[in-house]
Amino acid sequence: MARRQWSSGLAVAVAAVAVLSLLCSGHPVPGHHGGGGFVPLNPHFYDHSCPQMHGIVGAIVAREHAKDPRMAASLLRMHFHDCFVQGCDASVLLDADGSGRFTTEKRSNPNRDSLRGFEVIDEIKAALEHACPHTVSCADIVAVVARDSTVLTGGPGWEVPLGRRDSLTASLSGSNNLIPAPNDSLPTIINKFRNQGLDIADLVALSGAHTIGDSRCVSFRQRLYGQNNNGQVDRTLNPGYAAQLRARCPASGGDQNLFALDLVSQFRFDNQYYRNILASNALLSSDQILLTQGRDTMELVHRFAANQGLFFDQFAKSMVKMGNILPLTGNAGEIRNNCRRINH
Ligand code: HEM
Ligand SMILES: *[C@@H]1O[C@H](CO)[C@@H](O)[C@H](O)[C@H]1NC(C)=O
Repeated sequence: MARRQWSSGLAVAVAAVAVLSLLCSGHPVPGHHGGGGFVPLNPHFYDHSCPQMHGIVGAIVAREHAKDPRMAASLLRMHFHDCFVQGCDASVLLDADGSGRFTTEKRSNPNRDSLRGFEVIDEIKAALEHACPHTVSCADIVAVVARDSTVLTGGPGWEVPLGRRDSLTASLSGSNNLIPAPNDSLPTIINKFRNQGLDIADLVALSGAHTIGDSRCVSFRQRLYGQNNNGQVDRTLNPGYAAQLRARCPASGGDQNLFALDLVSQFRFDNQYYRNILASNALLSSDQILLTQGRDTMELVHRFAANQGLFFDQFAKSMVKMGNILPLTGNAGEIRNNCRRINH
């Protein structure tokens, strides 16, 4: 009994010293926040537990992007598709596990045959498990990778708030219903953003991610052949551009054929996306309608087209905001060992 009291007394003392030293160094106390309570994200979360994290992530993203010039775009998109479904919790990375506990998001309409870069996240996770075992969450990896991908292609940088933990579940229906579709109306898209706590400036700035990367024919075909609800060819599409698109995106077939989202500078993160919209050269309906269906969005398209610095500032702010959607913190969720599977 005495011995037990002594050892628990010691444990308390050790814990108190640990907590004090963590607090003194300005470091948050992951996993010690009672009952999974919310702990604000913090850019310095891994400063002591994994100081190599940024170097490891940045080097692998740069190497993979050098091998495949589309990779930065694919990785930037992954953070968006993660955050819009039950928050930024790496739910998008979970494979089907046959357990019936959850349904993988990889088979959803927005993700199937489209979302890519999972092997790069695996490679980063393996390197981080080697350097700092059981420390860096998959959700934080995806957030840092999105920032590094933006910088690598010429876009703005920002400090990434960290300390997210990984979900124990995923949601196929969430992925289908919460991520905007390219043929949604502007009010529908605005609502889908608002439901995530994102406003019109966030919508217009974050859509600017379409300055890099590709889309498949199947994502914009309706515009070319009047297959939308009113049966008209989309008149907000430049006729010359439409003719070019039809050459490799026939009325049926060729669904997976790829087209640059930004026809002028597809590998460069710049404000060309907004200039394309002004010239009726946006690839997706969801891009063009920012100009044609809403007054507030139209004004922002003009401002970002005229001022790249303004776009970059708003993009960085909006990415931080998107990265803050419902993170699991404290001792909620877990730190996955393998981003594709829950630990048990
Ligand atoms: C506003 C609502 C949005 C809609 C309707 C939308 C829709 C789409 C569609 C249909 C594609 C092409 C997919 C394919 O055909 O395979 C795409 C690609 C892409 N999206 Fe979005 N998106 C939206 C917002 C965003 C946001 C907020 C981001 C990131 C901040 C983003 C980043 C990207 C990137 C980088 C690509 C190219 C990916 C690649 O080449 O692998 N999108 N998007
Ligand atoms: C969008 O396209 C899909 C088929 O690709 C269709 O089922 C859906 O009704 C379309 N939505 C709108 C709003 O036109």
